[in-house]
Order: sequence, then C-alpha cells, then structure tokens
Amino acid sequence: MTEVKVAVLGASGWMGKTHTMAFQTFPHFFGQGGGTARVVALVSRDPKAEQDLAFRAPGAKILKDWQQAVADPEVDLIDICLPDNMHYEVAKAALLSGKHVFCEKPLADTAEQARELAEIAAQKGVITRVGHAFPRNPVHDLAKEIIDNGEIGQIKMFKGCQHVDMFGDPLAPHMWRANGDLAPTGIVGDTGSHVFSFMAFLVGRVSSLIADNFIVTDKRPVVEGSAFGDDNALTGDEDWADVTNPDGSNILCTFANGARGLVDFSRVATGRKFMQAYEIYGTKGSLSYNYDEVSRLRFYSNDDRVGRRGYRAIDVGPEHETYKAFLPLPNFGLGYNESKIIEAAEIVRSITTNQPMWPTFETGHHICQIVDACMTSSRLKRWVDID
Ligand SMILES: NC(=O)c1ccc[n+]([C@@H]2O[C@H](COP(=O)([O-])OP(=O)(O)OC[C@H]3O[C@@H](n4cnc5c(N)ncnc54)[C@H](O)[C@@H]3O)[C@@H](O)[C@H]2O)c1
Repeated sequence: MTEVKVAVLGASGWMGKTHTMAFQTFPHFFGQGGGTARVVALVSRDPKAEQDLAFRAPGAKILKDWQQAVADPEVDLIDICLPDNMHYEVAKAALLSGKHVFCEKPLADTAEQARELAEIAAQKGVITRVGHAFPRNPVHDLAKEIIDNGEIGQIKMFKGCQHVDMFGDPLAPHMWRANGDLAPTGIVGDTGSHVFSFMAFLVGRVSSLIADNFIVTDKRPVVEGSAFGDDNALTGDEDWADVTNPDGSNILCTFANGARGLVDFSRVATGRKFMQAYEIYGTKGSLSYNYDEVSRLRFYSNDDRVGRRGYRAIDVGPEHETYKAFLPLPNFGLGYNESKIIEAAEIVRSITTNQPMWPTFETGHHICQIVDACMTSSRLKRWVDID
C-alpha cells in the first residue's frame, strides 16, 4: 500500500482540522517515498460544519457517525480526534475491524483500557500511534541522541512542567475538558500526558509516584459552543456547571533506571499562555529545554575544561533530516503544526513499511499507567507503584 486512506473522526474540532491538514500536507516536505495519504472520510457531529469540511478535504465523504467510518472498507486508517472518553470505544472498534489506528492523547481513560487496546493491536498486527506530537520536534531527537550517546552520563534527575491559563480566569466558560464524564482524568490526561511523553521518550519508564491533583475553580459558566480562544462576554444568565476533574497537579516520581522526577502542570497558571519546559541532569552533563525557544536545546558538559564550562545553546538545523525537510537554515523554528505534519508522515511511513514508530499504543499504555497512578495516588494521598 502506498496511498493510505484516512478517516478523521471529530473533524470539525481543533485536532480534527489539524490532522486533516497534516495528512494532506506532509508530502510537500517529506516527498512521496514513504507513501501518501488521502483523507476519504470526515466525521463530524456538527451539522453546520459540512461546507467547511468539504473545502478542507475535497471529495471526502462527510459522515455523522464514527461507526460508518469504522465499517467503511475504503478506510485504512482511523484517526481519532474525539473527546477523551470516546477514545477507548472507538479505537477498540477500529482495531477489531482490522484498521490501523492513530488516536489523540490520552490513549484511554484507564491503563487497563489502554493495555487492552495495545494487546488487540498486537493480535491484529496493525500499526498504531498516539498523538504525542511534542517530542517529535527534531530538537528532542537531538536531546535523545545526546542522552543515548552517554554525553550527559547516567540520568539522575528530570524536572518537567507544562502550564496554560485557559482556566486561569474563574469566569472562563466550562467546556468538555472540565467535565469528568467526558475527560475523566482532566488535566492529568490532557496536559500531564504531554510531560509524561517527554519522560517516556527521553528518560524511560516511571516506577512509582506521588501526586497532588487539585481543582482551583469548582464551577464555571456554560456558554454554548465556546471553544479555545473565544472571547466570551457573559450575560449573567448562564447556567453554571461543576468542574469535576483536576485543574492541576504536582508530582514526585522515580524512574525504573533510578532517576528521580519532579513534575508540575496546570490549566490555571494565569498569564502562562503556553509554558513547556524540561531539565535533565546526568552524571556528566545536563540538558535544558523551554518551548519559548522552540528549536533550541541547552547542553552542559563536564567534558568542557574548567573555566570554560557553561550551557551552550544548540539550534537544531538542517543537519537533522527532519528539520531539513522543512527549512534550509537553523533556528527558523518548527512550530506545533509542523510536529503534527511529522506525525502524519511517520504514521503513513509506518503503515507503508509495516514498521511501528514511537509512540505506539504500547507507549500510550505506559503513559496511561502514569496517569492512573496520579489519580490513585492523589485520592489515597500516598506513593503508588507502577508495574
Ligand atoms: N496532541 C495534542 O497536542 C492535542 C492538542 C489538543 C487536543 N488533543 C486531544 O485531541 C482530542 C480532541 O481535542 P480537540 O481540542 O480537538 O477538541 P474539540 O472540542 O475542538 O474537538 C472535538 C470534536 O469532536 C466532535 N465530537 C464530539 N462527540 C462526537 C461524536 N460522538 N461523533 C462525532 N464527533 C464528535 C465535536 O463536535 C468536536 O468537533 C482530545 O482527546 C484532546 O485531548 C491533543
């Protein structure tokens, strides 16, 4: 198979639009050697979206129910961009019908569900991927190369965080993300899973943790149809809905390789529009990354002579194949959408070559184990082990 036929589910949402763009765009950067994709079906519940969707993927069927896409023999890859609580049911149905599956994060609501999905995928021999796009920015491949080369020695400590202020204002409207029925793990699965994806990619498996999850604002006004980025003026007549999942969390953890971790994330950090950072300390050196300098890694090495030691800033550039696919000069910055284009290219290449690439549903399962452990630990107020 050289052309992968894709159905995007949740097509009129943020991720649905981004994935639709990414599948159609990636050959402009990566060529057609790894295969191409055609978006053949878009699933949306929104009746107003039909015209908009028709322009986004000309010729694609516009479907109302995800079941139609899963049953469609033309579709090779089911791409799940639906709210979190639907991931398990839809991914399971898609795997059982023999489709390859690309699922946005978090893979499932519980580790048990995620394990079942990974097992079915293995039995069916299909390609899977979870939408942990951030570590696929080539600057993190550079970090991984430095770690794998032993250039920072044995990792002793990881510090990571991700904060936004979408719910910093107590009057910001309620949305599905704050509803524990639709997003059972709240910020832990939503944003924590991004930090956990860096941990899985760069450091290794987490073996135990203690988490303090918290809700800052327990009720929010309901503004029909409100989405990220909207400037919603309240009328004062709104209904108010309970916030039933965590707004933030502070976590201590241990890794199977002996390293220690300190992690925090939230959706209530007033003023932090998007903050994502990590620091990794080893026995011979360290790495530091901050999304504000999206293509730049800071590297400290004890191999430098005394008197010349200090962090050097390395701007990832065209010496890295993935960066070169987009830009001929270093430090022009690869943004969020490029990381989603990389993802689309990689899952298509995985399917056409039958070679799984990180992060598969196995990775998604471990990240769900970390999320589960955070929920359990915070409820029981104690350390929790992870198998
Ligand atoms: N990887 C990332 O960086 C990243 C970023 C944002 C969101 N996400 C994940 O992507 C998923 C979607 O998030 P979003 O921000 O795009 O949400 P969104 O609310 O913008 O979009 C969700 C879409 O699903 C549709 N939908 C809901 N129920 C449906 C149903 N039964 N049938 C068909 N369509 C249905 C909604 O109408 C909406 O268009 C979530 O799991 C989220 O965690 C990942």
